[in-house]
Amino acid sequence: MNNQFALSNTQLLEIANDLKSKIETGLQEDGTEIKCLPTYIHPKKDGIKGEATVFDLGGTNFRAAVVSVGEETKITGMAEKDITEMKTAGFTETDLYNSEAEAIVQLKLPANSSIGYCFSYPAKPMLNGDAELIVWTKGVNIAGMAGKPIGAPMVKFLNDTMNAGFNGKIAVVNDTITSLFAGLANPGYDAYIGLIVGTGTNMATFFPSTYIPKINGMEGWSGETPVNLESGNFNPPNLTKFDVEVDDNSDNKGFQRFEKAISGMYLGRIFRAVFPNDGLDINLDAAGLSKMMNNPDQYKLEYVETAFQIYERSAKLVAASIAGLVLNLSTAYPSVKKIQVLAEGSLFWSKVKAHDTKYVDVVNACLAELLAESGLNDIKVDISRIENANLIGAAMSVLS
Ligand code: BGC
Repeated sequence: MNNQFALSNTQLLEIANDLKSKIETGLQEDGTEIKCLPTYIHPKKDGIKGEATVFDLGGTNFRAAVVSVGEETKITGMAEKDITEMKTAGFTETDLYNSEAEAIVQLKLPANSSIGYCFSYPAKPMLNGDAELIVWTKGVNIAGMAGKPIGAPMVKFLNDTMNAGFNGKIAVVNDTITSLFAGLANPGYDAYIGLIVGTGTNMATFFPSTYIPKINGMEGWSGETPVNLESGNFNPPNLTKFDVEVDDNSDNKGFQRFEKAISGMYLGRIFRAVFPNDGLDINLDAAGLSKMMNNPDQYKLEYVETAFQIYERSAKLVAASIAGLVLNLSTAYPSVKKIQVLAEGSLFWSKVKAHDTKYVDVVNACLAELLAESGLNDIKVDISRIENANLIGAAMSVLS
């Protein structure tokens, strides 16, 4: 069947190289397409001990848990809440804190606890560990919060309204940063990447501060810097008219173009753009596409194949973005040979019956070809997974 989502290796390499050069620009100055947000934490791999309260505001759920890190990592008590209500018009900052409190109240909070907050939206980290919201993504749009710290007002609210007694440190970190940190548990790599492909998408890595002109020489900070790229906002070449359509009908037109071509929140919308006259359910989402790909005999061949083409392109675009970042890393660390990607997200670890395909296998195969064609076949990239990476990484952030 004709594949309107096919991308040649030449096109994928154009995408990889474009991302590479936009990362360089983002490391030079603020406010560029690839934001490259430095996080001011030196994560300790070993010797961390203690207990932290951990929050995780993702694209689909809010979770709260108590995590103890030491010889053994233990997660005690976990409360979870669907965040659909946060995506409705008129939802306020106070509604957000109240909603978070409903989950937190279910935990047995340690006294004077520190908080590690895994926050899956673009935010500018501050030297004190808190971070300022830049903009909401993934359908959340709570007014009046951009440009202000995320952690401090939430802690004040929780202490005032539920006597939570938080008076320890707080670290607000992106979910790619928590994945990056959790991945340090696997030793022996020259470089590490944190990758999310779920409701949204993004990557993070470490760069030497000297390689980041916009913070090089900054007072109070030096050494290896964890950088949240915000690669979901990448506007790559070689997208289709269907991607334009999805973007035009979104609540943040012109932004998060890469995310809109890749992540779970948008795959159903791309599919609907291909069949505008079929009266498809407006709620058809990535889960709906999985259903088609997993029950091929119950759907039109054209639907099953198109769903598969969109799924496969998503994996190839992810491979191209990893290849782009590997190109940066090979410049920042000329002797780099082994890189680990710690990947999180339900789409990334999915598999479908159509063509008996695992998403990660498509990423690995495509990445190997792109690296070989870029002359980087001496670099080995391993993609791994760690249970509860976000919760563990958030605890590491505040306990390091
Ligand atoms: C956000 C990122 C986040 C990613 C994955 C994107 O929409 O901008 O901060 O890391 O989703 O959750």
